[in-house]
Amino acid sequence: MQKKIRVCLIGCGRAGMIHARSYMGGVSGAVLAALCDPSADTLKAAAEETGVTKLYSDWHDVMKDEEIDAVIVVTPTQFHHDVVISAASAGKHVFCEKPMASTEAECDEMIAACATNKVKLQLGFMRRFDRSFRRGKEMLDAGTVGDVTLIKSNTYGPSEPKEWMYDVRRNYGPIGEVNSHDFDTLRWYAGSEVKMIHAVGHNFRSPEKARQYPEYYDTCTVMLEFENGVLGMITGAQYVRYGYDSRAEILGTQGIIKVGSQHANSAETVTADRVIRSDSMDSWRTLFIDAYRAEDQAFIDCIRDDTEPLVSGTDGKMALVLVNEGLRSILERRPIMLKNGLPEE
Ligand SMILES: NC(=O)c1ccc[n+]([C@@H]2O[C@H](COP(=O)([O-])OP(=O)(O)OC[C@H]3O[C@@H](n4cnc5c(N)ncnc54)[C@H](O)[C@@H]3O)[C@@H](O)[C@H]2O)c1
Repeated sequence: MQKKIRVCLIGCGRAGMIHARSYMGGVSGAVLAALCDPSADTLKAAAEETGVTKLYSDWHDVMKDEEIDAVIVVTPTQFHHDVVISAASAGKHVFCEKPMASTEAECDEMIAACATNKVKLQLGFMRRFDRSFRRGKEMLDAGTVGDVTLIKSNTYGPSEPKEWMYDVRRNYGPIGEVNSHDFDTLRWYAGSEVKMIHAVGHNFRSPEKARQYPEYYDTCTVMLEFENGVLGMITGAQYVRYGYDSRAEILGTQGIIKVGSQHANSAETVTADRVIRSDSMDSWRTLFIDAYRAEDQAFIDCIRDDTEPLVSGTDGKMALVLVNEGLRSILERRPIMLKNGLPEE
């Protein structure tokens, strides 16, 4: 019998604990063997919840642990590059959350390190494992709606931005915070790279921040043209309050495929005033809970079966390029041309 893959979670915050719960809830063929986080309180809480006893406060020490076969990198994005390179050099397989890194060059280094050391590298675009998004892709590939003409995808998040999010030159704003998943979905559905990107953004919900952060925007629209001629439209917003809202549409020559719903469940109340009520989706953590579990299982399966990850380092890099170029388009107020999905100059 093959031995279980021994995994260390590096970064035990919001998203990290979703992966921890996947492993605790039963990703087959793997065991959550260690946790790493520099925050003593966070590490303690994660240990108490999971029952994991091997704890690290510094990720450098994880790399020296020969019992660890794979790492799940869920630190703040600025650390992804160094942690991934170090894990690959130590011969550990890598699951890395999105955004992959800060620059295209960093992504190239991460991809090369994993290839050289013959370890798997899977990126955290969990929508590719969501049942509805996958079904949309299956129907598209089966030609159910004819040839694809236009793909739309939106992500709107409910929460008030944290203070650091207002500085968009460092932290992107919604185009990186919420839309990086949409960029991946559109590349996946279109089966092509982006040729032109034109994005526009405005601050509607936090006017009191406009003086200190004149470039901050909370709402954006992104127009795309793919090399195979397919058109794309992504919209994004933060602080919408009404819930988490992620849906896509694929318009073909013979029909339309609609993916996703705002409903948290199928229960509806209809009252005498002839009003229909139902619960709206609260969070990405609820909507994609099964998708996170499926992506964690797929990562372990690709290690055990020695197959290619379904979401690669290149997918992570290309989505990052679109986030970076999309932000550039907003700030410079102009469309940007790409070549093979990469900046021309
Ligand atoms: N796939 C998704 O839908 C999704 C959703 C949320 C976040 N994310 C990504 O996951 C990453 C983490 O985001 P989050 O929301 O969980 O943030 P978070 O702040 O809740 O958690 C980050 C954790 O990493 C720890 N940390 C900081 N520096 C570290 C280091 N050097 N080594 C190890 N741990 C360190 C922090 O103490 C914290 O516990 C980001 O890259 C984010 O973009 C992805």
